[in-house]
Amino acid sequence: MTALWWQAGVIYQIYPRSFQDTNDDGIGDLTGIGRRLEYLVSLGVDAIWISPVYPSPMVDFGYDVADYCDVDPRFGTLADFDDLLMQAHRRGLKVLLDFVPNHTSDQHPWFVESRSSRENQKRNWYIWRDPAADGGPPNNWISDFGGSAWQWDKATRQYYYHAFLKEQPDLNWRHPAVQAAMYDVMRFWFDRGVDGFRIDVLWHMLKAADFPDNPPNPAYRSEMGEMHRLLQLHSTDQPEVHRIAADMREIADSYGARGQSERVLIGEVYLPVDRLMQYYGDTRPEVHLPFNFQLIDTPWGARSLAALIANYEAALPSGGWPNWVLGNHDRPRVAAKRGQAQARVAAVLLLTLRGTPTLYYGDELGLSDVGIEPSQVRDPRELREPGLALGRDPVRTPMPWDESENAGFTTVKPWLPLNADWPTRNVARMTEDSQSILTLYRRLIALRRNCLALSTGDFVLLSGEGEILAYERRHDAERLIVALNFGGRPHRLQLPDWARGSRLLLSTVDDATLVEGGAILLRSNEGVVLRAG
Ligand code: NOJ
Repeated sequence: MTALWWQAGVIYQIYPRSFQDTNDDGIGDLTGIGRRLEYLVSLGVDAIWISPVYPSPMVDFGYDVADYCDVDPRFGTLADFDDLLMQAHRRGLKVLLDFVPNHTSDQHPWFVESRSSRENQKRNWYIWRDPAADGGPPNNWISDFGGSAWQWDKATRQYYYHAFLKEQPDLNWRHPAVQAAMYDVMRFWFDRGVDGFRIDVLWHMLKAADFPDNPPNPAYRSEMGEMHRLLQLHSTDQPEVHRIAADMREIADSYGARGQSERVLIGEVYLPVDRLMQYYGDTRPEVHLPFNFQLIDTPWGARSLAALIANYEAALPSGGWPNWVLGNHDRPRVAAKRGQAQARVAAVLLLTLRGTPTLYYGDELGLSDVGIEPSQVRDPRELREPGLALGRDPVRTPMPWDESENAGFTTVKPWLPLNADWPTRNVARMTEDSQSILTLYRRLIALRRNCLALSTGDFVLLSGEGEILAYERRHDAERLIVALNFGGRPHRLQLPDWARGSRLLLSTVDDATLVEGGAILLRSNEGVVLRAG
């Protein structure tokens, strides 16, 4: 069976505010993405996922959508989008949009109508409830950004529910008209030619019908953020969400020839593996790729990663295609968490595991979290619960392109500061440097593209002891070995008999890795790929 593009390919996430400004407002735009398509082609990725570009008051930087079928003027116009899509397709790049179905902006005309009166025909498009007996919120649910998830509406004397900001009211997905309207949104973009969606907070979309209190979280510590005070037992991951996900899949697949999955759905789902797997679907298929975020949080070591990979592989349902993520616009950057040497090892891991990798813009430069002065904070997450290191501005800073003013990102003051080391840590400079992490990423992606063992082959764990993780990737006679040293000491790794005589394809350190006799001498923090067959 030949793999579909979203199985063999590499996905690259673009945070559009921070990629490339072309209209001198310090904020990236669609034309800017278009201007950088050649870079993406040279990097070797297959698809881009663009975080939301819809009209929005930008209280949550676009995850508060005021119109699902247009483009915010800060990013451009629908015509600009069509042009970008055409340019991308011409270069063989797929384009995924961010679909935000759980909630709208409070400025969306649907919510403006809904809150206008209890009798309004869109009243039940959102989640309205009477106060509890004591006049307080209907239950104890907490917003993911802290504070009660219920907002009192003085005019109509009811509360509405918002899992995130009060400016992001949750839609009522039990209402057939909401379902129909949102499925039309998907068709609107599919008809324009988009290749798929990343679906925002998919597991949040349905809430328990009778809204019981959530139980306390016994593991809660205040530095986790207030949302973790309770377990989201009744406010997320309800069984009814699976029918919605399956309906979405049906729409996506209806755009493929002979029902083939040519358009892809990726679900944002932060759940333990057993619950995550349910989003592949059971009796009906659901999303193609429920995002697997485990590399972000698992302790960085051979043993824990080996266990994680084995558990994940074992839990996959039959026909379920794996995927891996190292970072995104909500989580600390991999270089900040693991350091520069291990960021290179992480690159090898991401691009040699079995399954679709998603790469976050800037990680290919080893960009770290950028320190943000309190006066420069823009993220509502940080503004609501300051000082807990929950803010996301540090991972959303502008892409440094070259040594020109503002790193070639903009001609004016960028909306967030650049990384302090941008004069050296930028695309132009690192492209010329054969030892840079960017060059490593390019080589890894090229290797993956040219090697079926890596893109779609089988995975066999060889060793996950001490500081060394090693595995085999295999397709027919093509056999590769990946060996990663997570520690600061050299190690000798004995190769299996069949791998004697392997030759080095790539190392994170330099090409002087010693492969002798039946063993590799791995240097500290070194990751390598070898070809055996
Ligand atoms: C998840 C998104 O990734 C995050 O950036 C956003 O704040 C929330 N969903 C709310 O839409």
